[in-house]
Amino acid sequence: MEEILKVNGLSKQFDDLPVLDNLSLSVKKGEVVVIVGPSGCGKSTFLRCLNGLEDIDEGEVLLGEEKVNPNKKNLSRTRERIGMVFQSYDLFPHKTILQNITLAPIKVKKRKKAEVEEEAIKLLDRVGLLSKKDSYPRQLSGGQKQRVAIVRALIMHPEVLLLDEITAALDPEMVREVLDVVLSLAKEGRTMLIVTHEMAFAKAVADRVIFLENGKIVEEGSPEEFFDNPQTDRLKRFLKTFSYEK
Ligand SMILES: Nc1ncnc2c1ncn2[C@@H]1O[C@H](COP(=O)(O)OP(=O)(O)OP(=O)(O)O)[C@@H](O)[C@H]1O
Ligand SMILES: [Mg+2]
Repeated sequence: MEEILKVNGLSKQFDDLPVLDNLSLSVKKGEVVVIVGPSGCGKSTFLRCLNGLEDIDEGEVLLGEEKVNPNKKNLSRTRERIGMVFQSYDLFPHKTILQNITLAPIKVKKRKKAEVEEEAIKLLDRVGLLSKKDSYPRQLSGGQKQRVAIVRALIMHPEVLLLDEITAALDPEMVREVLDVVLSLAKEGRTMLIVTHEMAFAKAVADRVIFLENGKIVEEGSPEEFFDNPQTDRLKRFLKTFSYEK
């Protein structure tokens, strides 16, 4: 399958703290890559480098043929091609759900309002939130707001979607409704890089799982290999922290 995202020898440090160390990764169109690793290992920094939110010290990120980041000239274009959803949904409090979703396509992509609204309504319906289109963010639950944030990313028609711990701030019942939306996106062939601490979800959604530590990929494999037959002691220890024994 066609390669859509390629990272070559990416290194990044904050002052004298090395975070990413000569990291390389290639993602095919339609592939779902899940990234796991201990807190502070550089997962968020890595995703942020991919869509140009962070400067890169060494190496390069290629989106198709296009190079991300080096001079920032093509940055807004990059952000349209690589969508990102974070833990905090950052919706505009004084705008309705529909306005939150349609703002960027109308302003940035100069699309027609009627056409964008029609698409927004279809997407809201798909995530079960059509009835909330005229509500304000404060009137929605966390899980509902996060589904709106996903719709807001989708309406930009990104080629790659980056999801950074999008359920970390949610109550358990709301986690499921958000992850079900992500599973349905995976089924329809979306290319995604997902950072999550939900291991059962990771196993279900991933084509490939990557374990990141000290700025390097320590181990990677299919979800079955990764979770059922980890090779390195380090990954074995990490996975143990998610299971409880009496
Ligand atoms: N803007 C910044 N300035 C300085 N240091 C930073 C900055 N952003 C992140 N760091 C540091 O870089 C390292 C990697 O951070 P990052 O947020 O990428 O980790 P993470 O794997 O996403 O962790 P978590 O699982 O807790 O979200 C951490 O040590 C963090 O303190
Ligand atoms: Mg993080």
